[in-house]
Amino acid sequence: MKNIQIDLKNALSFINQNDFKNYDKQVNNQVKKLENKTGKGSDFLGWLNLPENISKDQIADINETAKRLRSISEIIVVIGIGGSYLGAKSVIDGLSGQFNHLKHDKNNPQTLFAGQNLSEDYHYELLDFLKDKNYSIIVISKSGTTTEPAIAFRLFRKDLEKRFGNKEASNRIVAITDATKGALREMVDQENYKSFLIDDDIGGRYSVLTPVGLLPIACAGFNIEELIEGAISMLNLSQNNSFDENPVHQYAAIRHALYSKNKTIEILANYNPKLNSIAEWWKQLFGESEGKENKGIFPASVNFTTDLHSMGQYVQEGLRNIFETVISVEKTKFSLNIPSDNDNYDGLNFLAGKPIDFVNKMAELGTTLAHIDGNVPNIKITIPELNEYYLGQLLYFFEKSCAISGYLLGINPFDQPGVEAYKENMFALLEKPGFEEESNSIKKKLNS
Ligand code: PA5
Repeated sequence: MKNIQIDLKNALSFINQNDFKNYDKQVNNQVKKLENKTGKGSDFLGWLNLPENISKDQIADINETAKRLRSISEIIVVIGIGGSYLGAKSVIDGLSGQFNHLKHDKNNPQTLFAGQNLSEDYHYELLDFLKDKNYSIIVISKSGTTTEPAIAFRLFRKDLEKRFGNKEASNRIVAITDATKGALREMVDQENYKSFLIDDDIGGRYSVLTPVGLLPIACAGFNIEELIEGAISMLNLSQNNSFDENPVHQYAAIRHALYSKNKTIEILANYNPKLNSIAEWWKQLFGESEGKENKGIFPASVNFTTDLHSMGQYVQEGLRNIFETVISVEKTKFSLNIPSDNDNYDGLNFLAGKPIDFVNKMAELGTTLAHIDGNVPNIKITIPELNEYYLGQLLYFFEKSCAISGYLLGINPFDQPGVEAYKENMFALLEKPGFEEESNSIKKKLNS
C-alpha cells in the first residue's frame, strides 16, 4: 500500500537548509509535550491516539444507525457548524460523484447541510426542497447551545414532527452531543433520540474521526473502517524517528521555517474540485488552532486550474508573503481522453488521445515552476488516489502537523477564545436574557 508523500524540495530552496535540520530536535520537543500531555491545552488531546482507540462496537453502532437512516431517507440533513460539519463535508465531497445531487437514486440518500449559516433564504429554500422528501436529521453540537444549529434544528424538527408525527420524527433524529451538558443533551434525554457522544477531550475541529464525522460519512455510503485504517497508518508514520521520513514532522517544520522568513500566508491549492471542502476543513483546523496572540499563518485556499484565471495573477506577482501547499492526486477515478477532430479548428489535435489528467498535471507542473520563479515556496503533498484510506491518512496528517505547528508557535492549538467575541455582540444585539449589561453598552457604542 502506498502512502501520501510530502515533497519539500521547492520550499527548502527558500530557507537555510542547515537551520532546517535543527527542526528535528525542536519538533521532537513539541511532540514530547503532546505525548506526555505537558503542553498547552493538554486536556484536549483525545484525538491524538483516537484512530487506534475507536472500538469495534462503536463502529458497528455507527454503521447500524447509518443503515437504518439510509433505509428511511432520501435525504439526510446534517445540522452543525464549524468542527461539527466541516470534517464530514470534506470527506463526503472528496469521495462523492460531483453530480450525484442531480440524480434521483432512491438507494443512496443525499447529504445536505443546515445550521452552518444564518441565511433565512438558505433555510427557507432547504425546507421548501424537503417538503415532499423523506428525510432524517443528524444534529451535531458539542456544546449543545450554538445558535446557528439550534435555530436550524428547531425549524427542521418542527417540520418533521408536523409531517410524520412526534414518534416517527424522534425515530428520524440522531443527535451527537456532550454526555451531560447542553440543551441538546436535555432534548435527547426528554425525546429519547438515538445519540452518540463527543468526548470531552476532543475539540470540534479535531472531531472528524468521532461520530461527528463518521456517522454522516457512513450515512453517505462510505467505508468508515477504511478511513480509520488510513488514519492509523498515518499515526504510525508520524511516529517514525527519522525526521526525513516523517511527513508530519516535515510539514510542521517547513511551515514554521517559512513563517520565520515572513511567509505569513499559506495557500492550499488543489487541481481537483472534489478537494474544495478538504480545503475548507483545513482552513478551520489551522486558522482556529494557530491564529492567536497576534501570531499564526493565515490559511487560504485556491482551486486550480479554475482560480489560475482569477487568483493566479496575485500568487504570481502580488505581495511576496505567501507560500503554497499543493495537494496533488496521482490517479483519477475515471479515464477520459481528448478526442481527435478532423477539422482541428481549435488546434488541439496535438493532444488527441491524451488523458485530460495529463493536461491537468502539466498545468500543475507549469504553475509550480512559474510560482517558484515568482518567489513562492512550494510544498507538494501527493495522494495516490481519492478513497477513504488516503483521506483518512490526509486528515490525521493535517491534525497532528497542526498541533505540532501550534506548539512551535508557542500558542495553545486547542482553544478558540476569539470565537466568543462575535457571539457576545450578537447576543447583546439580540437582547438575549442574561446579556442586559452587554446590550446597554453595545447600544451606547452604536449611538455614540
Ligand atoms: O472547532 C470548534 O471547536 C468549533 O468550530 C465548533 O466545532 C463550532 O463552534 C460548533 O460548536 P458546537 O459543536 O459546540 O455547536
